[in-house]
Amino acid sequence: MRSYLFVPGDSERKLHKSLSSGADCLLIDLEDSVSLSQKDIARQLTRDFVTEHSGQDHKAGTPHIIVRVNPLSSGMTDDDLAAVIAARPGGILLPKSEHGADVQHLSALMAVHEAAAAIDEGVTDIHALVTETARGTLNAGTYDNVSKRLKTLSWGGEDLSADVGVETNRTDEGHYTDLFRYARTVTLLGAASAGLEAVDTVYVDFKNVAGLERECRAAVRDGFSGKMAIHPSQVEVINRIFTPTEAALQRARSIINLFEQAGDDVGVLSLDGQMIDRPHLKQAQRLLNRARAAGIG
Ligand code: COA
Ligand code: MG
Repeated sequence: MRSYLFVPGDSERKLHKSLSSGADCLLIDLEDSVSLSQKDIARQLTRDFVTEHSGQDHKAGTPHIIVRVNPLSSGMTDDDLAAVIAARPGGILLPKSEHGADVQHLSALMAVHEAAAAIDEGVTDIHALVTETARGTLNAGTYDNVSKRLKTLSWGGEDLSADVGVETNRTDEGHYTDLFRYARTVTLLGAASAGLEAVDTVYVDFKNVAGLERECRAAVRDGFSGKMAIHPSQVEVINRIFTPTEAALQRARSIINLFEQAGDDVGVLSLDGQMIDRPHLKQAQRLLNRARAAGIG
């Protein structure tokens, strides 16, 4: 999936609007964008929205729906799950995850609600935000083999700023400072080492299209499979830049064909005057998987 649009779970208007955004995935939020006094209403609206647009009636071409619950430390996670699991969201996004063990903890809570709703255990995926605290950032490498439910890791800069006490997360030139470059990098490494997809964080300056395009291109270059958005206007840019080009797809298919024809026992080949070896094959397969997830190729 390329684009993940955050939608505040207490806003009927935005929930409705999100359906025509073109996002591959909606992240319906019960956490930071919902004030404490609105949590209950957000849970109800989210449950109704997910029931109507996800679950067993999920149709091809409609967005995949993930619900962001409140973090385990808030004491609210279980109430969030009680409200939404029976509506059959595609997944749950865990914010402020600090260790692979947090994902196991969440998975156990989810299993209880799946059982209560007579849903098969494990059908609801988990996605984790792993760099929102200093501790979580240091533990981004602990997600290998923690749960079959876990599909993606993403990173977040705003909460990490607050946790570490930084004044700003960008330099005067607009680049992330070292702390955030580190968080971004350990998310890529943590995801790759655990066989998961890495999803890039939000770009908050939502009127700045050129800035978003730059950040999307850097994300594709560095191995992210998609990017989170906060505003519907960001979706088209993200989808466009995360969709592999026809030329890249052709080349990936050529590499795969070349290896298929050469058989199992070959290590290195040449294509258009360039050396091609096993890592290129792996990258070609990843690209085709990405294209398939985007509904092309
Ligand atoms: N999802 C769905 N619809 C959205 C949306 C979103 N994330 N953000 C804006 N819209 C809608 C607005 O409701 C408005 O629709 P309308 O014309 O029918 O009322 C339209 O898109 C244009 O919105 P705009 O006026 O440009 O933005 P805004 O000032 O209303 O909202 C934000 C700006 C940042 C508050 C809003 O984009 C938002 O809530 N983003 C998500 C925040 C979030 O979830 N944060 C948590 C993760 S970091
Ligand atoms: Mg947050």
